[in-house]
Amino acid sequence: MSYQIKVAASDITFDCNDGESVLDAAERAGFALPYSCRKGVCSECQGGVINAEGISEKALLCCVRPSANVTIAPRKIEKRERVVRKKLDASVFRIAQAAPDVTVLQLRLPTGVRAKFRAGQYLQIHLDDETVRNYSMANPPHQSDSVHLHVRHVAGGRFSDGVLKELAVGKKLRIELPYGEFFFRDDSTKPVILVATGTGFAPVKSIVEDAIKRKLARPMKLYWGARREQDLYLADLARKWHDEGHVEFIPVLSDPEGDWAGRTGIVHRAVLADHPSLAAHQVYACGNPSMTSAARDAFTSAGLPEDEFFCDAFVQTGTLEPAA
Ligand SMILES: Cc1cc2nc3c(=O)[nH]c(=O)nc-3n(C[C@H](O)[C@H](O)[C@H](O)COP(=O)(O)OP(=O)(O)OC[C@H]3O[C@@H](n4cnc5c(N)ncnc54)[C@H](O)[C@@H]3O)c2cc1C
Ligand code: FES
Repeated sequence: MSYQIKVAASDITFDCNDGESVLDAAERAGFALPYSCRKGVCSECQGGVINAEGISEKALLCCVRPSANVTIAPRKIEKRERVVRKKLDASVFRIAQAAPDVTVLQLRLPTGVRAKFRAGQYLQIHLDDETVRNYSMANPPHQSDSVHLHVRHVAGGRFSDGVLKELAVGKKLRIELPYGEFFFRDDSTKPVILVATGTGFAPVKSIVEDAIKRKLARPMKLYWGARREQDLYLADLARKWHDEGHVEFIPVLSDPEGDWAGRTGIVHRAVLADHPSLAAHQVYACGNPSMTSAARDAFTSAGLPEDEFFCDAFVQTGTLEPAA
């Protein structure tokens, strides 16, 4: 059984199978809707579903599984090449501790297999209990024989405080990629602001290294927020990009220790202090959900067009049932 999904104020229609989410059906038909977690947590996919009285009710389109024909009013819909995802058994190639609470995990793909993804996207790690965990690729797409992940340890976390500790070189992990609408838009010439907290630096690293490789001439500023200096686990790399003129790096500490002479406070407020108007910018924000949500509100109030704000909120998805 399938149902017809109509997109309000357009001539777009597509079919949705029984039990399928609107987001999955749209992708299958070659349309991109905004999303991030796909689990009903981040609200990135929120759009309207028009009820029988013609009233639009807000719903999370990653969770809506229609049981009749329906009209939707998403924030945005774009025709895209159909997403082709690969499920692979990747082997652990290197494990390094970048900070006391951040592990850099490098996974090698099977011989001859390449990872196709865009800078900023994420993958899913499939765990034995049939749940998945999302991690953003930190390497740029041209390094396609491996994926590098930056995993922040969450106390009691099934993957980050469990599976990860048991991993050793050569062990296998089931991964699926690519996922995500948080990827660099290279069809724009607007100056770019990258805002990260914690391991939100991972997809930002992929974006910057991709831009360097492709010699993109877009002005880029990177604001990386953390509590203390040691939390900026790859600050030397970001400073190197800065010194080489690829990106202006502005570290912002909320709880600095010792003789820190750099910026202090909340990272998205530092962006606003430097840019009272964001009307001409494009912003990529990634990491802590409270930062991405505060940044969206504050930046759009400062003139940033809603569709020039891209984010991945690193929400917890592992043990949750999708919201109704
Ligand atoms: C699109 C996307 C991309 C992501 N990319 C990254 C990435 O690149 N690097 C990275 O480190 N993480 C990333 N995450 C978060 C990651 O997917 C996991 O949620 C996180 O690592 C915790 O998984 P776990 O199995 O260790 O903990 P779980 O077993 O899922 O959770 C165990 C306990 O920890 C709590 N918890 C779980 N996650 C969090 C959290 N984020 N903050 C506070 N408490 C939490 C839960 O409430 C639960 O009580 C991303 C999330 C999304 C949605
Ligand atoms: S993508 Fe639907 S709530 Fe996150």
